[in-house]
Amino acid sequence: MNVEAGAERDEPETNVTLVRIGSSKDVAAGQMRVFELEGTKVNVANAAGKLYAFDDTCTHTGCSLARGKLDGTTVTCACHGSQFDVTSGAVLRGPARRPVRSRSVKVEGENLLAEA
Ligand code: FES
Repeated sequence: MNVEAGAERDEPETNVTLVRIGSSKDVAAGQMRVFELEGTKVNVANAAGKLYAFDDTCTHTGCSLARGKLDGTTVTCACHGSQFDVTSGAVLRGPARRPVRSRSVKVEGENLLAEA
């Protein structure tokens, strides 16, 4: 019997490597913050107390999404107005066409962990 396999919701049963990127208190509600993760800028957004991680570089022409605006679970790029869903990385409005990579994120004690 495999009791440990009881899957957590929203967590795919794959070999996701989570690494510490900061403290669990680093991102206040309604805010975004960028962390360096193995050479990539990863944005962690706190939407109504829930954390979402995604690559910070806009897929349009490379602006930092952290310089944009977070409204609920939608981030709007400050450069040309592309919008992404922070829960999935999906494009909600162009000119960007490609999604940003969404990453698993987790709080473990005082540690903020994100998918490598
Ligand atoms: S760089 Fe983000 S919309 Fe153009």
